[in-house]
Amino acid sequence: MSFQGRHVCHIADMTVADVDRVLDAAERLLPAARGERTLEAAKGKILATLFFEPSTRTRLSFESAMHRLGGNVISVAEPGSTSATKGETLADTIRMVSSYGDVVVLRHPREGAARLASRYSRVPVINAGDGAGQHPTQTLTDLFTIRKAKGEIRPNTVTIAGDLKYGRTVHSLAQALAMYGAEMVFVAPESLQVPADMRQHLDAMGARYRLASTLEEVVGETDVLYMTRIQKERFPDLDEYRKVAGVFRVTPSLLAEGKKGIVVLHPLPRVGEIDPAVDDTPAAKYFEQAAYGVPVRMALLAEILGLKGVA
Ligand code: CP
Repeated sequence: MSFQGRHVCHIADMTVADVDRVLDAAERLLPAARGERTLEAAKGKILATLFFEPSTRTRLSFESAMHRLGGNVISVAEPGSTSATKGETLADTIRMVSSYGDVVVLRHPREGAARLASRYSRVPVINAGDGAGQHPTQTLTDLFTIRKAKGEIRPNTVTIAGDLKYGRTVHSLAQALAMYGAEMVFVAPESLQVPADMRQHLDAMGARYRLASTLEEVVGETDVLYMTRIQKERFPDLDEYRKVAGVFRVTPSLLAEGKKGIVVLHPLPRVGEIDPAVDDTPAAKYFEQAAYGVPVRMALLAEILGLKGVA
């Protein structure tokens, strides 16, 4: 089914068939994403990026993706520069912005903000991260990276480690991996494990997962190690953050105990979860993962905008 004109607020807004179609198109778009092929399919179209939280990868890769498709970009990277500071509601902001562009990419600190925005938008809204909620386009990039590194998604055991409570990339990815039937291991301090409501949802989906508390106990059975940052900015109490900060660190010696062919992913930014000495090992895939944000977002924009002859 065509994805044209649809919102992507949650990974569950897409089926496995939708995701596969986007990932297949992203594969074909790799040369264009690197600038080796020039496209004009999005000529005359405008992407509006509206970021109420900091971002390096998501905003810039979306903007690069739109430029690579031949389209234009309008952007708010600094929320202090918008009329939200004068008290304008998100609903009103979206009413305006969606009349200035053909698709809106929104990052917001409030969970559910993208879904709310979609109700007031004249054009498709893509969630670029809503508080501790979801980050579906990061998940598309993660799945693409797993496919590139491992050939397929389902047969892998994916260990997801770090902040599984507040980490929105984790929430999207776990649901996507459940959709694909991959096996998951969730490694976190008890206070940062996957929230109970999400576990219930995974159970209802028939997801295959287990919980663990150390990397050492699971590294030998892990095909993909997905590290995440402890989300300091989401802790109501900084003393609670200090208790768990720095709890996990991937090192070459840990990986030496790992399953043959293990790869390490991270949505980035990292703040100590991965020793830089890992960067030069064959396991390190996190910078490639960040680069894949461009072809994957090109493919998604092309689907949503109904662009012809792109991939
Ligand atoms: N992975 C990710 O969302 O990175 P940014 O916060 O830099 O966009």
